[in-house]
Amino acid sequence: MIVPTKILFEHAYGDYALGAYNINNAEQTLGLFRGAIASQAPFIIQISKGARKYTDKRILEAIIRASEEIFPEAVFAVHLDHGDEETAHECIDSGFYSSVMIDASHEPFEGNVATTKRVVDHAHSKGISVEAEMGQLGGVEEDVAVDEKNAHLTDPAEAKEFIRLTGADSLACAIGTSHGAYKFSGGQGLHFDRIKAIKEAIPTTPLVMHGSSSVPQDEVARINAAGGKLKEGAKGVDPNQYLPAAKLGVCKINIDTDGRLVWTRVHREFFRDTPAEFDFRPVGKVFMAEYAKFIESRNVYLGSAGKLDGARAHAKKALGL
Ligand code: G3H
Ligand code: 13P
Ligand code: ZN
Repeated sequence: MIVPTKILFEHAYGDYALGAYNINNAEQTLGLFRGAIASQAPFIIQISKGARKYTDKRILEAIIRASEEIFPEAVFAVHLDHGDEETAHECIDSGFYSSVMIDASHEPFEGNVATTKRVVDHAHSKGISVEAEMGQLGGVEEDVAVDEKNAHLTDPAEAKEFIRLTGADSLACAIGTSHGAYKFSGGQGLHFDRIKAIKEAIPTTPLVMHGSSSVPQDEVARINAAGGKLKEGAKGVDPNQYLPAAKLGVCKINIDTDGRLVWTRVHREFFRDTPAEFDFRPVGKVFMAEYAKFIESRNVYLGSAGKLDGARAHAKKALGL
């Protein structure tokens, strides 16, 4: 059942976080649904601009609609990840998305407010909610490269003013994370003091954490042992920090890179071990099973495991079903 993101946030707020997982193809989607059902967790499917362009956005929509039928138990929302203004308006008009992200965080404060407000006004007129971003994460976000050293954390007072001016429904905050496989070189981690201060400034706004992959070191080592050349030693977010962040109002935790690492490990090892193989289906099956296991494990860390029935009951009540 596809439900409004807002309804999932109401259920999760202050208790657990929803995993927001990016999808690009059928194998990722099936692995995601299988893992979500196995862990009995509600979740968010994210589609980036790059994913919409990879095959065709209509194919992704069809895969998600088919999955909804194949897994009638599932409770989830569909979200545009890192939208620009044009894509956000297009997704709002499509009638398919539960929520959109407008990422104008590279603009100065006033510009970010103006762009976000236009998207919020349009989205709210169609009953869709909007995630905005304030502050800049390190790493690479699609076309916008931000030097890790220049990444600045979200300012709580600015966040309050930003929400007041835009009416955005949730806020992606810079709280120490960055996108990709190279996040922290040493012992850095989440800035819990900053999360607390932002929550105090905007106590009813669900917070979103981007760049939340954990970059498991054993995964990186296996990839490199099978011929990969990923930089070793760069850590991601400690998954044991997901739940403490959720208790402070972080409702949506974005995980994409870790799934790519699962894909890379499975494929490198498979073809190393079966060099005569050229059918993509046997390895695809292994990937779907491994990705489902990965999703299941993340949902336990996020605290969303076991929340499926409660989320469904809440959604049905809120939707008058
Ligand atoms: O934050 C970006 C997500 O990991 C999506 O990545 O734009 O390469 O699809 P992508
Ligand atoms: P990771 O690169 O840490 O998986 O972050 C994904 C993300 O923030 C998608 O919006
Ligand atoms: Zn992101």
